[in-house]
Amino acid sequence: MSIIVDHLYYRYDAGTAFEKEALTDINMVINDGEFVGIIGHTGSGKSTLIQHLNGLLKPAAGSIYYNGEDIFDKGYSLKELRRKVGLVFQYPEYQLFESTVINDVKFGPSNLGLSNLEVDLASFDAIKKVGIPDNMIDASPFELSGGEKRKVAIAGILAMKPEVIILDEPTAGLDPKGREDILSILKSLHREMGMTIILVSHSMDEVADVADRLVVMNAGKIVATGAPAEIFKYYDELENIGLSVPQTVYLMNKLKKNGIDVRNGIFNPDDAIREISRVFHI
Ligand SMILES: Nc1ncnc2c1ncn2[C@@H]1O[C@H](COP(=O)(O)OP(=O)(O)O)[C@@H](O)[C@H]1O
Ligand SMILES: [Mg+2]
Repeated sequence: MSIIVDHLYYRYDAGTAFEKEALTDINMVINDGEFVGIIGHTGSGKSTLIQHLNGLLKPAAGSIYYNGEDIFDKGYSLKELRRKVGLVFQYPEYQLFESTVINDVKFGPSNLGLSNLEVDLASFDAIKKVGIPDNMIDASPFELSGGEKRKVAIAGILAMKPEVIILDEPTAGLDPKGREDILSILKSLHREMGMTIILVSHSMDEVADVADRLVVMNAGKIVATGAPAEIFKYYDELENIGLSVPQTVYLMNKLKKNGIDVRNGIFNPDDAIREISRVFHI
């Protein structure tokens, strides 16, 4: 058990003429060590939802529990929660402001009351985990490429040694190489360190590749949750809410409809190649 969201509602500009219900009756459990993809069309409520998970937004109704404790109970430390549940905002590069990469990464841990040595160790360790080369640590963050800036922002969160890391569209606007780099960092944090990862995305291909479970949002509600192969069975319904499943799913379905006996549940190109080779003995 890690994060429980219980009947959560949220409104922006409550009590004004602009009041807008952004989340409606959200119920969700994120288990320890899971890699969950939160997917939905723009405006479906993804960013609003994740900002509740570390207490940045307070529900209009409903509760959020972290390891069994209500995070909005009197006396619960939201500061401590934000260390354990790290949030990487969308376009985090706009929040890099220190003169060097290393100082930017140190910013978070140095506010935790650690010794200088502990701050250094945590920061160098985080830099290593995201694959920033040593010769870059004294560079200005502004000299880096888009993908490198994202890595610095992720390292800044990792340096606080969170239990859960939430990333809001971390690959938005990156080229394919930058995108692949970020996803492989997330995979290794999950596989090698057992971190709980929540990845927000509007790309099915992207989350299908890395997440164990998807949470599909539409118009402020969760409309489905399950393993990618389960979710992709509903490609018609997904299209109706502006989401397309990976191209491979369409291809495999087309083959099946034409009488070619390929296995169900294949959604990535490498598996498709293997399966097609098997069926056609090539
Ligand atoms: N700061 C804000 N003020 C008013 N409405 C907002 C604000 N942020 C988001 N919204 C609205 O809340 C809804 C959910 O938005 P958001 O959580 O940003 O969705 P997503 O991250 O899935 O694109 C949208 O209708 C959006 O217009
Ligand atoms: Mg968003």
